[in-house]
Amino acid sequence: MTQSPGNRVAGKIALVTGAAAGIGRAIALRLGEEGASLVIVDIDAEGLAETKRRLEVAGRPVLSVTADVTEEAPVKALFASALAEYGRLDILVNDVGGGTSGHIWEAKLEDWDHVIRLNLRSAFLCTREAAAHMRERRSGRIVNLSSGAREGTPWTAYYIGNSAYSAAKAAIHGFTRGVALELAEYGVNVNAVAPGPIETERTAPGFRKIEHLEHGPIRATPLRRIGTVADIASAVLYLASDEADYITGTTLAVAGGR
Ligand SMILES: NC(=O)c1ccc[n+]([C@@H]2O[C@H](COP(=O)([O-])OP(=O)(O)OC[C@H]3O[C@@H](n4cnc5c(N)ncnc54)[C@H](O)[C@@H]3O)[C@@H](O)[C@H]2O)c1
Repeated sequence: MTQSPGNRVAGKIALVTGAAAGIGRAIALRLGEEGASLVIVDIDAEGLAETKRRLEVAGRPVLSVTADVTEEAPVKALFASALAEYGRLDILVNDVGGGTSGHIWEAKLEDWDHVIRLNLRSAFLCTREAAAHMRERRSGRIVNLSSGAREGTPWTAYYIGNSAYSAAKAAIHGFTRGVALELAEYGVNVNAVAPGPIETERTAPGFRKIEHLEHGPIRATPLRRIGTVADIASAVLYLASDEADYITGTTLAVAGGR
């Protein structure tokens, strides 16, 4: 489905982590299309430059910061520059995540730690900075990226193994609920989106190998297709907008019915 640009987040300041590629880039571009000014962050400077270029072509103000969001000091510096640039922050999207731990019987400790750190510690560090600011302003939206993997993903389990990722994405659901309850009285809404299999440059080659297998992502998805980055960006946009004013503490599955 094609969407025509509008003003669903007009005038809002939105910070999107992991905006150099895939779902994060699509979210940043979609929020920009709907009138937001952006802060984009990633460790991939080249990809980030391309996202910045596309936002600028669309006429959107953008501050681009190359940083590792699993580390405390760069995250503090990131939020300080965002506030110095725009004076406030209305929307945080914690998109950074991913990683693989392999089958449990041979999983390496460093891979487990990496996956938990990438998905959970990054969300904690960024949310803590945003929450302090939004709580004071009594306004804000935080959207986290969970995953269908929070309940286990059959094709990943059978063919690859990634229980660390399932654990981290289930933790994102609990984190989202806990933080939503803490911030509710301050007018800050906190939700998560849990994507099913989403085609990106990174995921496409893997999906091509397994998509038609018995437990592959197409057969295991009731809507019988792999999702698009636009499917996820639309859901994040909704939760980030004023339309979702009475929704907090929810994990919205965008997973084709799975
Ligand atoms: N693609 C899917 O099928 C799918 C499904 C469910 C959930 N998700 C979740 O959606 C989110 C985005 O997924 P994606 O497939 O677009 O991922 P991706 O790997 O394509 O993009 C993630 C981005 O994060 C950046 N990044 C990695 N480590 C970083 C760090 N330490 N600091 C800053 N940036 C860092 C990467 O450079 C990359 O640009 C993730 O949280 C992922 O777990 C994806």
